[in-house]
Amino acid sequence: MKSFLDLAALGPEEVADLLSLAVRLERSPEPEALKGKILALLFFNPSLRTLASFQAGMARLGGSAFVISPGQGTWILETRDGVVMDGTAAEHVREAIPVLASYADALGIRSFAGGADLAADLADSTFLSMAKVCPVPLINLESAVDHPCQALGDWKTMDDLGVPARGGRFVLSWAWHPKPLPLAVPAAVVHMAAQRGMDVTLLRPEGFGLPEPILARARRAAETSGGSLRETADRREALEGAHVIYAKSWASPVHYGNAEAEAAFRASLRDWCVGEDWFATTAPDCRFMHCLPVRRNVVVKDAVLDGPRSVVVHEARNRMWAQMAVLHRLLRKQGEER
Ligand code: CP
Repeated sequence: MKSFLDLAALGPEEVADLLSLAVRLERSPEPEALKGKILALLFFNPSLRTLASFQAGMARLGGSAFVISPGQGTWILETRDGVVMDGTAAEHVREAIPVLASYADALGIRSFAGGADLAADLADSTFLSMAKVCPVPLINLESAVDHPCQALGDWKTMDDLGVPARGGRFVLSWAWHPKPLPLAVPAAVVHMAAQRGMDVTLLRPEGFGLPEPILARARRAAETSGGSLRETADRREALEGAHVIYAKSWASPVHYGNAEAEAAFRASLRDWCVGEDWFATTAPDCRFMHCLPVRRNVVVKDAVLDGPRSVVVHEARNRMWAQMAVLHRLLRKQGEER
């Protein structure tokens, strides 16, 4: 593995290898595995889990990490190509990324969707243009339409909890939120569940379907794994027999880039907040998943988040073990296995 940009780029053996390595590292510490290795972390957007879990993971493996948040004690960085840089940005990523890479053995970048141009965001053009100028192994810390670290950690969480892969019913449900949020987590998670071989239902109100390229990718994964993918606005039908309800909000593709029209479009959808009543017809041990951060009593009610179905902290913890497995595979030389 040369970089970790997209779970879809990995075959079943590579995913299985990362998951089993994550379990091994969780059970048996390897405090010298990445001794002397340095990870650079470039965050264009805020984070709690990704920021902390990568630093903690590198420390647990004997390496270290440094964090750059452009504009916060460092130069503001320009990401667009071909622009006249007479605004606030003092430096371009075309220089900054190779410079950071020259201090480190691997680089992680978080760069959310612009949220204005759906086609550009679906093409993940900002992240991919930065990837082109990165000369060391690169890790996607969440781009416009992908969050492979979240997806891998969530896969491990379902494995840990014995959620069935084949025959497991996974519902990704849209939830109300005051802001139009990016597509990265829903895109990554719907694909991950399909890649895991689950029967995936995308539950969303009319007008909030995921864009076709995202669905097509998940459908291809389901065809390969033996899983399935369907889409519905019918909550009762979707939740019947579910093993997982994974809640997430995302922007409507119908009004993408127009926050005012989007807000009006979603105004009547505040009942898309996961409550205990959503579990009436699910499997008895149906789990509640969310990538965090989550807004209480907006996306999910307190009773669910504080109750036994919620595995959100387990998911967040698994981000660290999953990412440690990724770092281990990227930064240890072949033949350096214990
Ligand atoms: N789920 C996730 O990526 O969390 P952060 O945004 O806090 O990193």
